[in-house]
Amino acid sequence: MNQLLDRAQQLFPYTQRIRRDLHRFPELGFQEHRTSGVIARELENLGLEVTTGIAETGVVAQIESRHPEPVLMMRFDMDALPVVEETNAEYASQNPGVMHACGHDGHVAIGLTVAHLLKEMRNELNGTVRLIFQPAEEGLDGARRMIAEGALGETTPKFALGAHVWNEKPVGWLGVTPGPMMAAAEIFEVEITGRGGHGALPNLAIDPVNAAAQIVVALNAIVARNVSPLQSAVVSVTSIRGGETFNVIPPKMRLQGTIRTFEPEVRSIVLERFEQIVNGVAASAGCEANIDLKSLTPAVVNDAGVAQQVMNSARMILPDSTILSDFRTMGSEDMAFFLNEVPGCYIFVGSANPAKKLDAPHHHPKFDFDEAALTLAAALLTGAAVDLLS
Ligand code: NI
Repeated sequence: MNQLLDRAQQLFPYTQRIRRDLHRFPELGFQEHRTSGVIARELENLGLEVTTGIAETGVVAQIESRHPEPVLMMRFDMDALPVVEETNAEYASQNPGVMHACGHDGHVAIGLTVAHLLKEMRNELNGTVRLIFQPAEEGLDGARRMIAEGALGETTPKFALGAHVWNEKPVGWLGVTPGPMMAAAEIFEVEITGRGGHGALPNLAIDPVNAAAQIVVALNAIVARNVSPLQSAVVSVTSIRGGETFNVIPPKMRLQGTIRTFEPEVRSIVLERFEQIVNGVAASAGCEANIDLKSLTPAVVNDAGVAQQVMNSARMILPDSTILSDFRTMGSEDMAFFLNEVPGCYIFVGSANPAKKLDAPHHHPKFDFDEAALTLAAALLTGAAVDLLS
């Protein structure tokens, strides 16, 4: 299998050229028209049959072998973020205000490199690999739309794979975690209504500012007192708004924030307590609360069996890597929707290189990564696909 890593390394100039080209021309979710064109062109150059226009800009192609089944799907996201790039890289964004600040340019380059490798290894393949290039991962529901528009194909895949370059960890590090590994994300907006009045006569008003302050503090008790100390959750209030000046008690306050959990039972406890605390504290202050709570994504849950097989493949293909099997993050990912349909494994591929100053965090204006991670990811995904199908 180590010929696989060698071959992926030989393809590095190709991988890098694709990544840098996409990095120069980043596009926001559902607007990835140029990106989608590059993907379709490259896959067609390999002689693959390509379907475009799924969920606006999504692209799907299949690598077929003598055995049509089982099917393994791989998902690569392709959208950029509304961030002004400050990397000074020679391949920096030429699209002002838009930047590949999460590494999805790299994910597309990985996907196209995997297509090359699998095409060459067709004879060793005992099934079909379905490559899914997905738009609009950044909170825009691209995965759900791809699935709704038929991206999974006629034969539901038996396995799913995907990977994210991960700048929290150095290149050469891999995170292959069975079970929940990225959090379920909810977002909330709470409106607290009291009665406005004069700042000097609070007894004649019903003060929503005071109520909002007490709610923020009381919400901290959920993680501290209601979630088991051996499980995890986050309740973050990230915005409090209301009031204009020093002598007027405003009639309303608005809170916004996010809730993150891994296990469904923890999620339901946290959501239940959230509503009780917000309504209860608001009522105790004589205010009324109106809660708008939306689920963004479920948790990303890796299938234990598939994760174990990916781990075995990783040890064979990338023997020099450091592999962690218990790395989790409170970040969220809409890969969760694919993994709800198909048992699979989402892999973190360490991509930071502090010596080259390539270690800014994801979504930062200086975000950039060591492109060697792309080769490692492409080799691992290809090898794991071949192994899972055999
Ligand atoms: Ni991302």
